[in-house]
Amino acid sequence: MITDLWYKNAVVYCLSVATFMDSNGDGIGDFAGLERRLDYLQGLGVTAIWLMPFQPSPKRDGGYDIADYYGVDPDYGSLGDFVAFTHAAKQRGLRVLIDLVVNHTSDRHRWFQSARSDPDSPYRDWYVWAQERPANADEGMVFPGVQDTTWTYDAKAKAWYFHRFFAFQPDLNTANPEVQAEILKIMGFWIELGVSGFRMDAVPFVIAEKGADVTGEPREQFDMLRDFREFLSWRQGDAIILAEANVLPKQDLDYFGDDADRMNMMFNFQVNQATFYALAAHDARPLVKAIERTKPRPLSCQWGIFLRNHDELDLGRLTETQRALVFERFGPEKRMQLYDRGIRRRFAPMMDGDPRRIRLAYSLMFTLPGTPVLRYGDEIGMGDDLTLKERDCARTPMQWTGEVHGGFTLSDRPVSPVIAGGPYGYPHVNVADQRHEADSLLNWMQGIIRLRKEVPEIGWGDVVALPTREKAVVALRYDWRGNAVLCLHNLDPGPVEIALDTGVPAPEGAVLVDLLTGARSEAGPDGRHGLMLEGYGYHWFRVGGLDALLKRRPT
Ligand code: NOJ
Repeated sequence: MITDLWYKNAVVYCLSVATFMDSNGDGIGDFAGLERRLDYLQGLGVTAIWLMPFQPSPKRDGGYDIADYYGVDPDYGSLGDFVAFTHAAKQRGLRVLIDLVVNHTSDRHRWFQSARSDPDSPYRDWYVWAQERPANADEGMVFPGVQDTTWTYDAKAKAWYFHRFFAFQPDLNTANPEVQAEILKIMGFWIELGVSGFRMDAVPFVIAEKGADVTGEPREQFDMLRDFREFLSWRQGDAIILAEANVLPKQDLDYFGDDADRMNMMFNFQVNQATFYALAAHDARPLVKAIERTKPRPLSCQWGIFLRNHDELDLGRLTETQRALVFERFGPEKRMQLYDRGIRRRFAPMMDGDPRRIRLAYSLMFTLPGTPVLRYGDEIGMGDDLTLKERDCARTPMQWTGEVHGGFTLSDRPVSPVIAGGPYGYPHVNVADQRHEADSLLNWMQGIIRLRKEVPEIGWGDVVALPTREKAVVALRYDWRGNAVLCLHNLDPGPVEIALDTGVPAPEGAVLVDLLTGARSEAGPDGRHGLMLEGYGYHWFRVGGLDALLKRRPT
């Protein structure tokens, strides 16, 4: 397989323009501000940026309620600023992915306004209507606790409309060929403006059958995914779709496509939730199981691996006992929890700000099979503001300096309050200070990102979990092109000693070189490596050392 598939060994950084950098002093981040921070991102070493929605929107769901697919919200700049940004990113070798939110529109979108105003509107069938309140109107809410129905009566339309998410987000009738054609047009538009692909929002809902007569589990129309993908690859061969699809492993291939002809990438929610359980319980076993269950995928497809994102940490796929433990360890108070299934905190506070645990977790994340996706601010260990509602608590502005409002804006009225007080306030946690501290999280993160890019075996290779007899140890070996890399993580606060059979026969298997420290380990007479892992310790080894690598790499 050719190694041109850039997303197989990328490092993705996700951010929202609104909270990244304000250049004009109006309190709201903008494209011009983001453009000025591109050198920072390049220096950090990330290779792709994923932007949350920035199109015109009433922003009642963080911009995931789009009112015009073909523009930039004036708060963030103009289409011209957007193109200046994608161009500047390209000059630095950074790719740009954007959110594609086509399961629903904002209720302010002119399509919905037209559809509700006139039964003969050309847009009427772009949405999903019912004359009577459907029997299942109180089922299938995505935001339990704050959303109590999936069908709402619209007095103007004199009909009920379907909305999988909030009532101000009417679902598009995605089975309608006109809507499908419009989705392609939207993709085609942004591709021309310099993006390398899309993070497709809520994919299982986009392809689900919708309507008042749908009972039970709605059937999915997977052909739609092939059509999106085919269109995109004709328009731009290396463009990708990264799907947000929190599905069971038995469905993975339906989304990737047996012939790799559907989604190029998907977020691995199974591994994400199992990782948090592993960190909470100091038990690697369910994580190893999740890795094994999500292993089958076409070679050109890829998992997106993440710790936290802009939503709550959804724990819905864990067992009740597992979930209870993660809540107890990482989100024990009611105000830290959300939607009956998750935790809304940022990562660093969940780890009590302990640098050893934070580094262990990120090192682990960077060595899980797939492409890592980081969230802005996590590279400096930003905290959350639990006085803000729902998911807003973890969407506060980037903390650049120790100056007022963390250097995010010169305005007195930032779009969201910058975290100022407590251990995570900008006077203590900011980019500028961490640049000057040799042992800061930021410098550590930069180093581990650099290392991750130098170990393409993780993105490309075949993964196998090695037995260690210690339940707190994750031992993964990656094999690719005759090279092997071994990644060890000790989830326990105490040290453990293991006798590891790497599974690689001598001579290569007899030598391990630690890529973080340069230390060498020689196997004992039984072929095993006696290794001492410190509490929360992590090691990335090249099996056979660099000599083997140089010998074996194809020229
Ligand atoms: C998933 C997004 O990640 C979330 O933030 C949003 O609220 C829903 N989709 C609806 O678009």
